[in-house]
Amino acid sequence: MSEETGMRGKTCVVTGATSGIGLVAAERLAAMGARLVLVGRDKARGEAALARIRGRVPAGELAVRYADLSSLAETSRLAAALAAELPRIDVLINNAGAMFTTRGVTADGLERTFALNHMAYFTLTNRLRDRLAAPARVVNVASEAHRGRTLDFADLQSASQYRGFAAYGRSKLANILFTRELARRLAGSGVTANCLHPGFVASRFGDNNAGLFRLGVGLAKRLFALSPEQGAETIVYLASSPEVEGVSGGYFDKCRLRQPSAAARDDSAARRLWEESARLAGLPAA
Ligand SMILES: NC(=O)c1ccc[n+]([C@@H]2O[C@H](COP(=O)([O-])OP(=O)(O)OC[C@H]3O[C@@H](n4cnc5c(N)ncnc54)[C@H](OP(=O)(O)O)[C@@H]3O)[C@@H](O)[C@H]2O)c1
Repeated sequence: MSEETGMRGKTCVVTGATSGIGLVAAERLAAMGARLVLVGRDKARGEAALARIRGRVPAGELAVRYADLSSLAETSRLAAALAAELPRIDVLINNAGAMFTTRGVTADGLERTFALNHMAYFTLTNRLRDRLAAPARVVNVASEAHRGRTLDFADLQSASQYRGFAAYGRSKLANILFTRELARRLAGSGVTANCLHPGFVASRFGDNNAGLFRLGVGLAKRLFALSPEQGAETIVYLASSPEVEGVSGGYFDKCRLRQPSAAARDDSAARRLWEESARLAGLPAA
């Protein structure tokens, strides 16, 4: 199957598709013939993403939808709108995410890193579950930043002590645990769930912060980072490659299976996180 036609007729939903690796992944999948629904939160950036992809893939079938994914209500509203317009989703890519150097709390009372980086993945996937028809794929963008972190179930909202990079690492650990438990629950359904580390990428990541952190990340991005095109490789691979047909519950780096940390392989933590997330999202835990 050629790269240009391999995804023809498939519908892919990509969150965080207005920037960085999400934008490149959406563009690559559109070039393979997929129908793309980009999810953004800002109209100008959404229109710019559409225009960029249309410029490169003139025949692409594209749409953009908007939601602030740090809000449970907006994520649920987005899911309802997508479910109403899409009879089936072949690939759901949960990618929107950020790091915040200072603690913030959403309207739902959730710490914003946890809300955006984990709860949006959990809520959107669960609310779109019946649109994910076999052989559909869920692809969750996690990170090597999960290493060295553990979840504190007594303080999932990082209320007692907040350090931005630690909270970010815990949210990325949550992405891997969520993928693991989702894959377990989806076993035998023909729908798979995998997650990945994209590499350290020169995207807009970190630019939402001020001061030394932003300067440091900006410098590191200039010196060491991969391009967004390189960063998108593993997303596109998990979304489209026949090589991973039927593979589920994996953590990938550079298009290869990789063992995540011991904390990310803890099945009881994965189950507990699922139950707690369902309670917070107002979804059934079963
Ligand atoms: N860059 C890296 O080195 C790196 C490494 C490991 C993992 N990752 C992960 O890769 C993913 C993509 O990041 P990136 O590097 O491509 O960064 P990016 O260029 O900053 O893109 C982030 C995307 O998420 C969207 N987003 C942020 N907050 C949102 C919200 N509240 N509601 C809806 N959408 C929101 C952004 O929308 P706007 O355009 O409106 O801002 C943007 O489209 C993230 O999950 C990140 O944790 C990145």
